[in-house]
Amino acid sequence: MRSQTNLIRWTACGFEQAAAVSTSTTHGSNGDPPLGDKYARIVNDMARQGWSVRENFLDDALTAMLMGEALRLRAAGAYRHAGVGRGETAQVRPALRSDRIAWLDGKNESGATLKYLRELETLRQALNGSLFLGLFDFEGHLAEYVPGAFYRRHLDQHHDSDDRVVSCVLYLNRDWIPADGGELRLYLPDLNGQRDIAPRAGTLVCFLSGAFEHEVLPVHKSRHSLSGWFRRRAL
Ligand code: OGA
Ligand code: MN
Repeated sequence: MRSQTNLIRWTACGFEQAAAVSTSTTHGSNGDPPLGDKYARIVNDMARQGWSVRENFLDDALTAMLMGEALRLRAAGAYRHAGVGRGETAQVRPALRSDRIAWLDGKNESGATLKYLRELETLRQALNGSLFLGLFDFEGHLAEYVPGAFYRRHLDQHHDSDDRVVSCVLYLNRDWIPADGGELRLYLPDLNGQRDIAPRAGTLVCFLSGAFEHEVLPVHKSRHSLSGWFRRRAL
């Protein structure tokens, strides 16, 4: 069973400093959006429609460092076939999902991963501050889909729990082109529609974990991402 130590408890990891980053929506005197705007936009999207797609959420340098970290961990044998379900009932079901993942454990992350987690901490505080979601911690993993891999239509909440509230997926693939496949297909309940999102480096997708079914279309070129979930305290 995956132990609780995989959960990143912000306070235990010294992420409080991220609170110093402004989430103000006022514009700077030079007309450029301030740093905080990228969080405010996500908060607004989530309030309005429950999902958000932000290209260039992370800059190229940090995204490339995260990709380097993913490749280093892969070479070190840290990736395992992902399961479906959780705890003792989790099973590897290749007909449903065929990615390989490496859980973040909150202890051995590199500087690049910690930097990204600090960004997520700022986002967590912005979401809690405006939408009162009670997001408390984050669990996440790196994932690789090799050619042919996919993840069939699913919901991120487990059957027996609603503690995953917001799903966040960051893509790491530079030079992605449509022929590489692997789009995230988000099913939008209100419009009975769907939206395909290119898994391009630096794009961050967020959505309410209990509200949006989604799938990863088959990939034709190795696809790397960092996915995770803001959770509320289990009752
Ligand atoms: C997941 C997932 C989407 C993606 O890991 O649960 O749906 O685009 N990932 O990688
Ligand atoms: Mn999912």
